[in-house]
Amino acid sequence: MRTDQPKMIYLKDYQAPEYLIDETHLTFELFDDHSLVHAQLVMRRNPDRAALAQGAALPPLELDGQQLELLSVKLADVDLSEGDLSQNGYQLTSDSLTVQPTSETFTLDTTVKIHPETNTALEGLYKSSGMFCTQCEAEGFRKITYYLDRPDVMSTFTTTVSANKQAFPILLSNGNLIAAGPSDDSQRHWATWEDPFKKPAYLFALVAGDLWCIEDTFTTMSQRKVTLRIFVEPENVDKCQHAMDSLKKSMRWDEEVYGREYDLDIFMIVAVNDFNMGAMENKGLNIFNSSAVLARAETATDAAHQRVEAIVAHEYFHNWTGNRVTCRDWFQLSLKEGFTVFRDSGFSADMNSATVKRIQDVAYLRTHQFAEDAGPMAHAVRPDSFIEISNFYTLTVYEKGAEVVGMIHTLLGVEGFRKGSDLFFERHDGQAVTCDDFVKAMEDANGVDFTQFKRWYSQAGTPRLAVSESYDAAAKTYSLTFRQSTPTTPGQPGDQKLPFVIPVAMGLLDAQGQELPLRLQGEAPAVNTSRVLSVIEAEQTFTFIDIAEQPLPSLLRGFSAPVKLSFPYNRDQLMFLMQHDSDGFNRWDAGQQLSVQVLQDLIAQHQKGEPLVMDQRLITALHTVLTDESLDQAMVAEMLSLPGEAYLIEISEVADVDAIHAAREFARQQLADNLSDALWQRYQANRELSKQTPYVAASEHFARRALQNIALSYLMQTGKPEVLAAAIDQFDTADNMTERLTALAVLVNSPFEAEKAKALEVFAENFKDNALVMDQWFSVQAGSTLPGGLERVKALMQHPAFTMKNPNKVRALIGAFAGQNLINFHAADGSGYRFLADLVIELNGFNPQIASRQLAPLTRWRKYDSARQALMKAELERILASGPLSPDVYEVVSKSLA
Ligand code: TRP
Ligand code: ZN
Repeated sequence: MRTDQPKMIYLKDYQAPEYLIDETHLTFELFDDHSLVHAQLVMRRNPDRAALAQGAALPPLELDGQQLELLSVKLADVDLSEGDLSQNGYQLTSDSLTVQPTSETFTLDTTVKIHPETNTALEGLYKSSGMFCTQCEAEGFRKITYYLDRPDVMSTFTTTVSANKQAFPILLSNGNLIAAGPSDDSQRHWATWEDPFKKPAYLFALVAGDLWCIEDTFTTMSQRKVTLRIFVEPENVDKCQHAMDSLKKSMRWDEEVYGREYDLDIFMIVAVNDFNMGAMENKGLNIFNSSAVLARAETATDAAHQRVEAIVAHEYFHNWTGNRVTCRDWFQLSLKEGFTVFRDSGFSADMNSATVKRIQDVAYLRTHQFAEDAGPMAHAVRPDSFIEISNFYTLTVYEKGAEVVGMIHTLLGVEGFRKGSDLFFERHDGQAVTCDDFVKAMEDANGVDFTQFKRWYSQAGTPRLAVSESYDAAAKTYSLTFRQSTPTTPGQPGDQKLPFVIPVAMGLLDAQGQELPLRLQGEAPAVNTSRVLSVIEAEQTFTFIDIAEQPLPSLLRGFSAPVKLSFPYNRDQLMFLMQHDSDGFNRWDAGQQLSVQVLQDLIAQHQKGEPLVMDQRLITALHTVLTDESLDQAMVAEMLSLPGEAYLIEISEVADVDAIHAAREFARQQLADNLSDALWQRYQANRELSKQTPYVAASEHFARRALQNIALSYLMQTGKPEVLAAAIDQFDTADNMTERLTALAVLVNSPFEAEKAKALEVFAENFKDNALVMDQWFSVQAGSTLPGGLERVKALMQHPAFTMKNPNKVRALIGAFAGQNLINFHAADGSGYRFLADLVIELNGFNPQIASRQLAPLTRWRKYDSARQALMKAELERILASGPLSPDVYEVVSKSLA
């Protein structure tokens, strides 16, 4: 916590380090009421900086360190004391230690005392459920010892850990175990680990605890045997198999698709209960939020199983994209995160339904990343300034960053992209590099010029792409004209933004729904019916020839660029695309666009106080989808899902939360009433299969349960007694959490008070000892849009299973309320805003990262009516005035009010 105004850091100020660290030797002595950290750093002057300095005297060495109690410093074997740098002295500030080297190479020894046992920020070394663990990304290592805590300083590490043998039988760190034994004090023991790969300090990890593990092996493509271990608390060993299976699949996939092999003899995952994010890719010792590891049928939903698979893959893939090749500075974060998200998405697409994976990713991006791009924290994929780097682990850096890599993939094709990634790894293995280096490898391997394309890294905001058509029957030509523009974002006026390179995958359909060969003016006769147009100008026209009739365009197939495309489709055309487009993603998107049009009518009716009347074409279209047994059931489930309220808010000029909620609920009711026979039939068929088949976490089973569950949630709207009975039966007898939780959710959102209360009670009683399941119990209730949401959430905060100290609990209850229960959170009296601000102020005092993340909904005030804007701004101002703020919260609040 600091009281002075935190300072802004700029990419343009980057300078290479004055000194390098070749070897890092750490010894940790862990005790109940403190820990001691001895660091021996083998250092030298950075030759690049020495060359620039041209013989000038050695500069002082300034190490990062925060919240450390310095016990001793020795430079080149000489003890230093606080004082003049030139007189064997050192200087200390609240975040640095400075010494004066006297030779080009030297060792530095320090000993510090730290307090993991009271570390509630969950950054650095801390305790979670009695075990010691670390989280060092981005700048947490400086809370462990004095260091050059920046990713372009890469060192080998040896780490010795000593602790009480009985309480902490397992002692882990990065790399390979090289020695272990009892301490002189017979109560304690120690272990030494060595990581031969040079790495930045943010990839350091240490774990000490009473853990059990499951073990397996993986034989790499060059026939090396790797030991795989997943460590958890003893009661959770029965929930690790899915993560282990996911890990082995990831290792094989990375070999097959990217040619990347694992490099150490052992790979470990440790699950911890208190964790600020999903997981962390520490070299050879990934540390995971237990919610991203533990999964079995009885306790985790299909969605949770897929999330575990994706996060295990993501962290594993970081071993090459992040660890072997790391970031030069934190402005380059998307170099590793964007690329690694792109890689994990490709993996999930290959393991499950590729189209469904794409639909889910795009729905998420368009709802949440587009909102971020339109808000006060909007920034480029490679930001050019920040106050607190933890605030930049964002949807823009991760998800939009992955889209940028995806566009490179689209432009180069599968083989060209692979040539580029091979060159990138070959050139930069062992280095800390930039996004430019990544793009350069892609360019050099393919002989292309991405100068203009790179604007995606520096210009913030979501581009708009307006498309118009013209057909010339006599000349048989069809033209598409694209106009791109990008709104103003903080520090970047819209009228100064230059055109992007926008790859638009597209096709043309004739009146029968057949795809037409695509031949542009000046080209040879065409065979392809789908192609990628590169839109590179602010306005650009493409003219197709030999087009015998007016076609219907299918645009931005597979969402080939992260833009807001608009084309004046009418509803009949959208229904036609829903049925005939050869691109599965665009079939879904046509349905979404149709739904948006229909919902916008209803919103307007509600605002005018008119009775709501729904366009029956949406019912007809969804009836066709629902009764087509040839379709992938997961696709049917996605198509039946109306655009969410958050998305409807995002695409509104001024969002009317009440009208959006009323319109969407009305549409759901209409669909339920009009499709109830078809829904009931598909529900029962799939429910029967669920009863007959033991749970399997695989794609076709996910698909069947997804359709079953969305059907049940619609059917529940009809209020029919046989549906209530079915929901209760599903709740009581399901053998898996996917069915049980949906049954609970539909009861919670229903008017059947007695049944609801009973189900909640039974569920809590059965699962009171399983924190992750209780998180789902909290979330389901926090998300209930029935009136009285805030009071229910406040009451749940008093439940014995709730604690503000655990990030998963905060996310499950407060995050779900403010992020998903929009009608209650945006209550016109401002009670939801006041509640959230109070909690942010409280969280700021002990976990700044979580405080800053929970704050996001309040930053979106510009989207709402003036009364709500005033209420939201008042809460932001109250937070700002509430006392000393962490840099995390300060940055988000001050930028939101600017
Ligand atoms: N590198 C991690 C990932 O994306 C992100 C992460 C984990 C993180 N824990 C964190 C970022 C804490 C900031 C703070 O895989
Ligand atoms: Zn990552």
